Amino acid sequence: MADKKLRVGVLISGSGTNLQAIIDAAYENEIDVEVAVVISNRQEARGLERAEKSNIPAVWVDRTAHETFHSYNMAIRDALKMHEVDLVAMAGYMRLLGPEVLKAYPDRVINIHPALLPSFVGASSIHDAFEYGVKLTGVTVHFANEKFDDGPIIAQMAVRIAEDDTVESLEAKIHAVEHRLYPEVLQMFAEGRVSVEGRIARIAPHPEQTR
Ligand code: GAR
Repeated sequence: MADKKLRVGVLISGSGTNLQAIIDAAYENEIDVEVAVVISNRQEARGLERAEKSNIPAVWVDRTAHETFHSYNMAIRDALKMHEVDLVAMAGYMRLLGPEVLKAYPDRVINIHPALLPSFVGASSIHDAFEYGVKLTGVTVHFANEKFDDGPIIAQMAVRIAEDDTVESLEAKIHAVEHRLYPEVLQMFAEGRVSVEGRIARIAPHPEQTR
């Protein structure tokens, strides 16, 4: 276990099931993480309620209240700074993140995507992969940059599409994998094992594995 908990700021837009998986893993002390703040661009996001239920500061940043994308992103950055966040985790945050946030947290902003990147970027990737007829899809956690679903890949897990799968059953399988993988990756950050050079992210072996 790490000496100090990693303070994570989670960015959401919707239901927040990944957020919930992180909250639960932190609550159960499975990961050395504290969710310091949850920020949503949508007031009605169910994830904000999940945060409040767990006594985590929940912040709605309203894009329409900001004249520019710059000032909207500054507001997000300020909320992250105010809550002394070490790492920013996008979990179903469906907007681009501006340089104001990315530069404030160099190599400390990550995203989860429900496909094996670089395949099936975008907001409907589970459906797109199913309709394309691939036999293998999965989940990717990657560093974020100024493009959608881009940036160095940290971890991936594959999910097989069975003959009798439907979009709904595939969605359930993918979400189950996401809910395992994201807390695992956060723990790798808490242990200081993730580094990145150019496009390549590396995970150092767990200290116990090197003995
Ligand atoms: C998750 O499946 C996440 O991977 C996806 O949005 C969903 C949010 O669900 N993100 C993307 O598609 C990013 N391109 P949640 O709000 O229940 O965690």
